[in-house]
Formats: sequence, structure tokens, C-alpha cells
Amino acid sequence: MTDSTETTTGTGTATALAEDPMVRVKDLHRSFGSGAAAVHALRGVSFDVPRGELVALKGRSGSGKTTLLNLVGGLDKADGGSIVVDGTDIGSLGESGLLEMRRDRIGFVFQSFGLIPILSAAENVGVPLRLRKTDPKEREERVALLLSLVGLADHATQRPTELSGGQQQRVAIARALANRPALLIADEPTGQLDAETGLAVMELLRAVVRSENVTALVATHDAQLLGLADRVMELRDGRIVDAD
Ligand SMILES: Nc1ncnc2c1ncn2[C@@H]1O[C@H](COP(=O)(O)OP(=O)(O)OP(=O)(O)O)[C@@H](O)[C@H]1O
Ligand SMILES: [Mg+2]
Repeated sequence: MTDSTETTTGTGTATALAEDPMVRVKDLHRSFGSGAAAVHALRGVSFDVPRGELVALKGRSGSGKTTLLNLVGGLDKADGGSIVVDGTDIGSLGESGLLEMRRDRIGFVFQSFGLIPILSAAENVGVPLRLRKTDPKEREERVALLLSLVGLADHATQRPTELSGGQQQRVAIARALANRPALLIADEPTGQLDAETGLAVMELLRAVVRSENVTALVATHDAQLLGLADRVMELRDGRIVDAD
């Protein structure tokens, strides 16, 4: 850490410039398996996600969307290339740096919601704040605010099984926003929802990107979400074919 051009610290925090993109991916490669059986999930992917935008990632099943989101979110390691998120080069982080990055600066939303069944909606939203040992009063206030943001103020005490799919996904979005992440990553967030509920969830995502000052990278097959995005990228066989 003696190099004055070093941009990351031991904890993975960095000075990101406001004009830098939230995400900068360069020549990313990821393969699974080896030899003749190797699957080249990503074959040299490069793109930027500008700050404050909702960027949608489309592509057929198997095109590499989940692989790409997992790498950007620090859940998996690339074989080659670089990923900078909010000024931090993810490849330079060790396990604890990645853990901090995921805990403090990235919010995840998955197709299957991923809520903890024995916890109420409010408790689920509060989990990331507990992990950060946020003061209980502050935590309660933030949870209440987030639940009203996603339209579930009246459902705070219900457990996931007592909520509809759309409501569960809204709880998951509130949870993903709890720590005021810089980047929201969502992998087919409407994949398990019917069209009408899916649209409501997508409109919520669109609204929170504006109101919570967050940037979002969302994999989706959903034409309606694609229509709400600031830009759409397409992955085909591990390559970006269409960035607009
Ligand atoms: N852990 C893994 N081990 C082996 N192969 C994998 C692994 N993860 C992904 N793959 C392969 O990499 C390719 C890309 O998969 P990925 O899950 O990224 O696609 P996707 O675009 O998210 O598809 P879907 O729309 O079905 O979710 C596929 O051929 C898949 O089989
Ligand atoms: Mg996928």
C-alpha cells in the first residue's frame, strides 16, 4: 500500500469519482470445467453501468447472465478481466474485503426472493442492519421507512408464507436497500411472478433507483422491465451483442 496510485485500501474502500461509472467491466472471462467439457460462460465481456441508471441485461437461458451478475456482485471469481464497482477493483479484494463489499455496498435481489421463513417482513428487512450492528432504534426507523417505500407498512409482522409472491419480492427489495447500497443487483426478480405482479415489482425497482439514489443491474427476460430500463444490454453465448 505504498504506491500512491493505489486506489483501494485494505478494507476495500476507495475514492470513487462522481463521474466514474458505478460498474466498469473489462474483458471478463469465466469458464466452468476444463478440456473438451469446458463451458465458456463469459468470453470477453466489457461494459459500463453509469451511476444512477437502471441497466437491464437480457439474453437466452444459458447466455451467461447469472454468471455475470455473480461476478459483479463478488459472489464468484473471474478467470480473466477486471470489474470495478464504485471505484473498487473487485479482483484485488480478498475474502473479507469481498464480504464487506457485499454487505455494505451491494444489495441483491433473487428470483426466489430468499427471505428467511421464520422472520417477519420487518425482521427480514432488518437483517442487513443487524449484521452491521446498527443501533436498534435507527434500525427500526429505517425498516419502517423501507416497508412503507415498498408499500408494505401494514404487513410488517407477517412472515414470508403469509405474503404473496409479489409482496415477498417487495420485502426482498426493501432488504436489499437496507444498507443504502451503491449498487442493486437483481437476477430475474420477476421470474416467479405473474405478469401483473411482475409489472408492479418492476415499477417499484424503477422508482427506487430514482428515489434511493441507487444504480441497478437487472437480468430479465421481461419485455416490460426492458421497457423501463435506461439501457438494455444483450448477452449471447457469453458475449455482449447489443449495448444501447
Ligand atoms: N457452476 C457452474 N458449473 C458449471 N457450469 C455452469 C455453472 N454456472 C453456470 N454454468 C454454465 O454457464 C452457462 C451460463 O449460465 P448462466 O447461469 O450464467 O446463464 P443465464 O443466462 O443466467 O441463464 P438463465 O436465463 O437460464 O438463468 C451455462 O451453459 C451454464 O450451464
Ligand atoms: Mg440465470
